[in-house]
Amino acid sequence: MSGATATTGAGEAFVLEQTSLGPVPFVPEIRLHQAEEAIELWERTEAAKGEAGLPPPFWAFAWAGGVAVARYVLDHPEAVAGTRVLDVAAGSGVVAIAAALSGATSVRAAEIDDYAVAAVALNAEANGVTVTAECADLLDGDGAGADVVLAGDVFYERAMAARFLPFLERAHARGALVLVGDPGRAYLPRERFRALAAYEVPVMADLEDRAVKRTTVWRLDGAPAVPAQDH
Ligand SMILES: C[S@@+](CC[C@H](N)C(=O)[O-])C[C@H]1O[C@@H](n2cnc3c(N)ncnc32)[C@H](O)[C@@H]1O
Repeated sequence: MSGATATTGAGEAFVLEQTSLGPVPFVPEIRLHQAEEAIELWERTEAAKGEAGLPPPFWAFAWAGGVAVARYVLDHPEAVAGTRVLDVAAGSGVVAIAAALSGATSVRAAEIDDYAVAAVALNAEANGVTVTAECADLLDGDGAGADVVLAGDVFYERAMAARFLPFLERAHARGALVLVGDPGRAYLPRERFRALAAYEVPVMADLEDRAVKRTTVWRLDGAPAVPAQDH
């Protein structure tokens, strides 16, 4: 079976209408349904949902942090092969798909945006892999059940970062391998991580402030800065 398990038909139709399928720069092994620009798609998303003030359509692009984790996992399949993987804040699913292609036993992709869940389903199917996509906020837990927790580009907002680090700390404290890709976002707690690899990742000029971003794959390491909580 390929594709994801939790999807919406309307969401999939919107993703297909607004994107085209093509390889991801720097990880050409993976093809995604991607948009060519962000602002008009954002407006069309708000129109389609009849809501204002929605977050940007992150799902329509592979972000630098996710691309770096995907590259790392494809080049180091031993990091995930034979393990249960959780990709948190999956967006397009680029990281989840890389894990599935690299031999993970199972891959879950969690998102709070239902269009992202639809995009993960379509993208997994396009790459011939199985990913269980969930519309769920898992950040109050510890990623239970996952041997490896992956996250691409999640430290760009203060409030989100404040929830993400304790979540990752809890996963790490119960023994999960935790890898994060980050292109220098403002709220990355660098002191808690050890760099595993760094890449020059091509990015879309209208999403970022330059055409290439140096992006690091970090491993959460050592003792937590805050005590791990039981969940
Ligand atoms: C910059 S995008 C990164 C997407 C993907 N990991 C990548 O690197 O291409 C951040 C994503 O985090 C998702 N997100 C934000 N808060 C979340 C939460 N609490 N749980 C799951 N996903 C979340 C957003 O919907 C968005 O798709």
